[in-house]
Amino acid sequence: MLFTTATLAGFAALAPSAFALDNGVGRLPSNCVMIVAWNAFVCNIDDTIILETASLMQSLGLQDAGYTQMNLDDCWGEKNRSADGVLQANAERFPSGFINLTSQLHDMGFKAGIYSDSGWRTCQDYPGSYSNELLDAETFQDWGFDYLKYDNCYIPFDDIIREGTLGRFQRMADAIANLSSTSGQPPLIYSLCEWGWSQVWLWGASMANSWRVDNDIAANWDSIAAIINLASFIPQATNFYGRNDMDILEVGNGDLTYEENKSHFTAWALFKSPLLIGTNLSAVSSEIVDVLSNPEILAINQDPVVGTSISPFRWGLNPDWTSNSSFPAQYWSGPSQNGPCSCWSLNTLSEPADMFFNLTESPWIRAGRSYSVRDLWTHSDNGTAIRNFTAEVVPAHGVVALLLQDAGDEPDGIDPLCAVYCQCGTENGSYVYGGCTTEY
Ligand code: GAL
Repeated sequence: MLFTTATLAGFAALAPSAFALDNGVGRLPSNCVMIVAWNAFVCNIDDTIILETASLMQSLGLQDAGYTQMNLDDCWGEKNRSADGVLQANAERFPSGFINLTSQLHDMGFKAGIYSDSGWRTCQDYPGSYSNELLDAETFQDWGFDYLKYDNCYIPFDDIIREGTLGRFQRMADAIANLSSTSGQPPLIYSLCEWGWSQVWLWGASMANSWRVDNDIAANWDSIAAIINLASFIPQATNFYGRNDMDILEVGNGDLTYEENKSHFTAWALFKSPLLIGTNLSAVSSEIVDVLSNPEILAINQDPVVGTSISPFRWGLNPDWTSNSSFPAQYWSGPSQNGPCSCWSLNTLSEPADMFFNLTESPWIRAGRSYSVRDLWTHSDNGTAIRNFTAEVVPAHGVVALLLQDAGDEPDGIDPLCAVYCQCGTENGSYVYGGCTTEY
């Protein structure tokens, strides 16, 4: 890929702000992470399931595709701390302890993640880390974990905490930073789970690598569409080192159709969300493995040059900026290292539809140029787009994901002279096309 000076200047403008937690870990989404415990298994986790899942990650090709981490969720512990106040692995389900488990995962080439809570107890009523932040961060690091998901249950009363949500999550951020400075080890990747209740996208980047933006996902299209709708309003929160976490992937779960699975995965990946597989891999179909391992979609999620999220350039069905949990924005684009533009059209209807956009509706497209079109799901080149693109008969809840690459000047003499012609005019001051209805 050759970058023009203009392209590189554009990317520089997309560098993370000083606000981002540039502490050496978590620059790219923590992909690819396997949550072993929550959506698929809930509390029924043990070391056998985790090691079997790690083997499946390898035999199914998911590790090679880039999923390099295994995460525990809630319910891994004893119900109480030890007599000296330390968290304990559940003796029945993890009889060999976590040092043993993480070293086996490390030997298999995986990193490991663990879960705790910013309150007194976790959401499933195991000990939380409030007032034990440094001790627990040390314990997690000693056990060999590299990543911490931090939840939001059993919050201490106001006269105890005397802090807002931000302060409570900051306590663990400080503990992680202090521990790293004294131990010399990299900080734990820090993943906040406060469900977006305190507009975490406004402050999460100051302390964490990712932050959950919504309540728990469910394995149905209504839930996926609602999260996409929320995401359409907060793409600017995501960049290198810190990003909106759209929640664990439900790809392959519940009653999602094949098209819905593809749309769900495309959305999460192009939002640059962490990709946390939440499927029981011992029962997964090869079709779903192919969705999760789509190399061209994963490459955009893991883009080392562009950290920003895709964002809508037109809502489509609804007027721009409409919040509609059932029918979210349909036309999206973002810059990409191989781009300049990855574009994405989502058919939010429950019936097939044609999807159409003018190229220059996306800010990443240059006027007067033609673009080669790469289809990221059929893995084929789909001709050259000039001025606009139409995807015909996109299935219900289906997606068209494209990589547009500059293919040189458009042919001379195309009429109209400007693709978007409101305010398009001649040097001597007359409008070339007067069809605008808006007064300027
Ligand atoms: C919820 C969280 C879920 C899962 C669960 C475990 O608060 O959103 O992702 O971690 O707790 O109890």
